[in-house]
Amino acid sequence: MSGCRVCGGDVTTFLDLGQQPLSDAFLLGPEQIESEFFYHLRVGSCRSCHMIQLRDEVPRERMFHEEYPYRSSLSSVMREHFATTARSLLATELSGPDAFLIELGCNDGVLLGTVAEAGVRHLGVEPSGGVAEVARGRGLSVLTAFFEEKTARRVLEEHGRADVVYAANTFCHIPYLDSVFAGLDVLLTPDGVLVFEDPYLGDIVERGSFDQIYDEHFYLFSATSVASLANRFGFELVDVVRLGVHGGEVRYTLARAGARVPSAAVADLLAEETDRALHAPGTLEDFAKRVDRICDDLVGLLERLRDEGRRVVAYGATAKSATVTNRTGIGPDLVSTVYDSTPEKQGRLTPGAHIPVSPAAEFTAPYPDYALLFAWNHADEIMQRESAFREAGGRWISYVPDVRVM
Ligand code: SAH
Ligand code: TYD
Ligand code: ZN
Repeated sequence: MSGCRVCGGDVTTFLDLGQQPLSDAFLLGPEQIESEFFYHLRVGSCRSCHMIQLRDEVPRERMFHEEYPYRSSLSSVMREHFATTARSLLATELSGPDAFLIELGCNDGVLLGTVAEAGVRHLGVEPSGGVAEVARGRGLSVLTAFFEEKTARRVLEEHGRADVVYAANTFCHIPYLDSVFAGLDVLLTPDGVLVFEDPYLGDIVERGSFDQIYDEHFYLFSATSVASLANRFGFELVDVVRLGVHGGEVRYTLARAGARVPSAAVADLLAEETDRALHAPGTLEDFAKRVDRICDDLVGLLERLRDEGRRVVAYGATAKSATVTNRTGIGPDLVSTVYDSTPEKQGRLTPGAHIPVSPAAEFTAPYPDYALLFAWNHADEIMQRESAFREAGGRWISYVPDVRVM
């Protein structure tokens, strides 16, 4: 087995989630089942730099391509989150003359829209052609490419240096961070910053949200591992902000080493991670045991409901849910359909589990008895929109932080 993807150090595997399909590879129909691609989903921790990472890497072109179905703008909470984030960057890092922001993984332009409206120069770098085209259709400038050193040199030549490189739910998707940092080094101005936000290891361990682990989420970051990552490539972690979105994230700000004074929040979060032994082998082993328990509890509940003759559906054909269904074997016999608002997922089958995806607009009376909330990170938004379900006697099921009927 190979070493740490960041530092080459020894990696200890602490969680094995078995064979898994690509989490966003929805099937057109049963005829595609035979050729479905699977990989081994295992997670390890580096003994040297503490980076939590997948042990097997899926070729990037298999995941991010013309048909990549994830759409960022479907959640009103996320639209608001990115508008706020953009406004805050505009007021701080981008307030100077001729400021320039580059976004990695801009998807359908959910953040760049606000930057463009403010008249600030921007460029999205987005390898998935379909979503990049949606962003371009909104008048945004987007380069269809994977960000890496080669891309950075090309962008530098065409656009010059950037004050901010921003990435949401994208940095953790990139195994080849050595190349990314080489690119940032040429692309960022001397006082420029890299700002990225991703699911936080601390929240994942605390909530048992193991479904944050799938092919696209190659790294599970913490302040400890990101500080070490930054140092390795001549940068420094200068700020951290905890975020409530997507079940708990951290926004990390990195500057060139010595360029800025790190905020107190950095030292605080590093100390908190040490105090709670976040990276200790025992903590990660306990997390793995909890994953087993959650999976057993969820299958137990769904089998009981099936035996009682209840009708159970799911809500949110998330990438995350592929890990759950494929780890547990939950299929159409336990969950008859998954409702989802993404047009690109509707009428298809979920990866590996082959549960049919129906339009969210069809989640109407006569309601099922139970709805398993696969998009638990959007619970407030979804439960509010679908309040008629509960009023009609329907019950939501969640498995984060534990399996329960709500
Ligand atoms: N920023 C959006 C989208 C996150 S989905 C949001 O937070 O909702 C992750 C995105 O990263 C996908 O659109 C994918 O195509 C893109 N991506 C994957 N590898 C990348 C790379 N090397 N450079 C830039 N974008 C990448
Ligand atoms: P999300 O949890 O954002 O990400 P991931 O796929 O990476 O796990 O996915 C949310 C899914 O839920 C997405 O397919 C859209 C769907 N959805 C709805 O159907 N209705 C809603 O109101 C919201 C917010 C999301
Ligand atoms: Zn390492």
